[in-house]
Amino acid sequence: MWSHWIFLSLILLPAAVSAAKCKAAPKSVQNVQMCCPLPLPNWGAYNSECGQSGIQPSCRLACIFNATRALQGRQLNLTHVRPMLERAFTNPDIIDAYASNFASCASLVHSKYQELTQISKQSDACDRHALFYSLCAYSRLMRRCPANVWQRANKQCQEARAYMKTCAWPALKMFMKST
Ligand SMILES: *[C@@H]1O[C@H](CO)[C@@H](O)[C@H](O)[C@H]1NC(C)=O
Ligand SMILES: *[C@@H]1O[C@H](CO)[C@@H](O)[C@H](O)[C@H]1NC(C)=O
Repeated sequence: MWSHWIFLSLILLPAAVSAAKCKAAPKSVQNVQMCCPLPLPNWGAYNSECGQSGIQPSCRLACIFNATRALQGRQLNLTHVRPMLERAFTNPDIIDAYASNFASCASLVHSKYQELTQISKQSDACDRHALFYSLCAYSRLMRRCPANVWQRANKQCQEARAYMKTCAWPALKMFMKST
């Protein structure tokens, strides 16, 4: 009887605990461009290497991340992420924010890649590691946004930031579903 109980609680408890901690993600986690209105990266800066990679975001990003060695196999190499960002953005505050966000997305996206392939509606014309790392780093602007840009007075932005702080994975799933 006891062993039965222990067996069941081992299986059920982790799911119950995480469900209790994280209620359903608020829709506001999608409002990145409203809460942290930054210019988009100028990936055109990589046209000399990747102009022929096709228009699909998965292909364009796979090419850029490979050309810069930001992606090695399926994993990010953070040493090469910053120089990659420096070519796509000019503002150092934006580069810092993205570099930090790529760092915090590195292991989450790597470990959840298969699940993300089921959730994402983005074309899988090419391997989507570079794409998913990029979307994760973008969505994390909710948490790490240059202070002069962050829409601190907006209640929905505050709500999204607070949610993402404790529920990073459910927040990323919600963002990916809608993107
Ligand atoms: C990745 O980059 C290397 C050179 O750094 C190149 O030889 C290779 O073809 C590239 N692979 C893809 C899939 O673009
Ligand atoms: C990242 O790249 C640097 C420089 O090319 C290399 O020395 C380092 O071993 C790489 N790190 C990983 C985790 O692959």
